[in-house]
Amino acid sequence: MKRVTVIAPIIALFAALPLAAAAAAPEKAAACAACHGEGGAKPILPEYPVLAGQYASYLEHSLREYRSGARKNAIMAAQAAALSDADIEALSRYFASQPGPLYTPGIGASHAPAP
Ligand code: HEC
Repeated sequence: MKRVTVIAPIIALFAALPLAAAAAAPEKAAACAACHGEGGAKPILPEYPVLAGQYASYLEHSLREYRSGARKNAIMAAQAAALSDADIEALSRYFASQPGPLYTPGIGASHAPAP
């Protein structure tokens, strides 16, 4: 019984950690929201991509390629130019952790958009 009282708060602490990580927006994410929307989930134009819920590694790769010029887009080149490696990693982790409208249908599942 005593062991439970010691372990329960520790489990509660670890259970709370991912939520805390998802909530913390890097300072530079505010600039991104101007086009990609709050949390990267609601772009202001249909041709602007949703960032929320994409793989962090993909977001990071894209930002590095905009910065190097390997991926060409005038708008995003200007956005990525001022980002450090640490900024890119923090922004990628943040946007990947945000809830958004993207989903991946299973193999053989309907490709109709989610309701
Ligand atoms: C002025 C509008 C604007 C702002 C501000 C902006 N973006 Fe973008 N972003 C775009 C557009 C437009 C694209 C699509 C470009 C393309 O076709 O390659 C894009 C694409 C991206 C992509 C690639 C997504 C994909 O699905 O391939 C990432 C990642 C991204 N932006 C991250 C950011 C981050 C992080 C910030 C803030 C530092 C930011 N953007 C700020 C307009 C903007």
